[in-house]
Amino acid sequence: MSDINSFIANDRKDFTKGELNKQSLEENPFKLFNKWFKEALDKMVIEPYAFHLSTAVNNKPTSRVVYLRTIEDNGFVFFTNYKGRKGKEIETNNNVSMNFFWAEKERQIRIEGRVFKIEPEASDAYFASRPRKSQIGAWASNQSESIEDYKTLEERVLYFEEKFKDQDVPRPPHWGGYIIKPNYFEFWQGRQNRLHDRFAYTLDEQKWNIDRLNP
Ligand SMILES: Cc1cc2nc3c(=O)[nH]c(=O)nc-3n(C[C@H](O)[C@H](O)[C@H](O)COP(=O)(O)O)c2cc1C
Repeated sequence: MSDINSFIANDRKDFTKGELNKQSLEENPFKLFNKWFKEALDKMVIEPYAFHLSTAVNNKPTSRVVYLRTIEDNGFVFFTNYKGRKGKEIETNNNVSMNFFWAEKERQIRIEGRVFKIEPEASDAYFASRPRKSQIGAWASNQSESIEDYKTLEERVLYFEEKFKDQDVPRPPHWGGYIIKPNYFEFWQGRQNRLHDRFAYTLDEQKWNIDRLNP
C-alpha cells in the first residue's frame, strides 16, 4: 500500500489542453453541452455518454454510472430498472446530479436537476431497439436485490428465454427511461497550476444566469 500511496500522492498532472472564457460560452448551456459532447466524440473519449448519477435520500448521497441515451432540448434521458435502488431513491427525492469527466479533454460537466419518468411509449420504442439478450436481461434481473449466486441469474435468463420463445420480448413494466431536467450546469476546463476555468449556469425562471467560479 505504501507504494501505491506514494504514487498517488506524487503523481501530478497539469492541465494544458484548453481554456474556457466568456467568448466561448453559449447563452444556452445545452448548446455548450452539445458542443463539448461532439468534441469529446471527435477526441475519441471512451464512452463520453457514461456519467455518474447521484441520488440522495435521508441526507445520504449515493452514485453510480449510467449511460446517457438521448439529449433532448430540455433534458437528458437514461434507462434503468424503476424498482432498483436508484428508482426507489428517485421516487423519494427526484433531485439528482450528473457528472461527466472527459479526461482526454481535461473537462468536467456537472449538472443538477429534477428527474421524471418518460412516456411509456418512448420507453417501449427504446426497449424494442435493444439487443434481444439485453431485453431478456431486463426481465431476469431484479436490479439491486440480493441474489444467491450467478447460476440463479442464468436460470432466470433461461426461464424468460423460454417464456418469450418465438415472440418479441415486451418491455417489462418496471423498466424504462427517465429524463433529467437541469436547473444548474457547471462547465470545468482544467488549466495550469490548478487555476481552472469554471462557469456555472443557474436557471432563474426561464433565463440562464452565468457566473465564473473560482477554481
Ligand atoms: C459504464 C457503465 C454503464 C452503465 N449503464 C447503466 C445504465 O444505463 N442503466 C442502468 O440501470 N445501469 C447501468 N450501469 C450499472 C449501474 O452503475 C448500477 O450498477 C445499476 O444501475 C444499479 O444501480 P442502483 O442499485 O443504484 O439502482 C452501468 C454501469 C457502468 C459501469
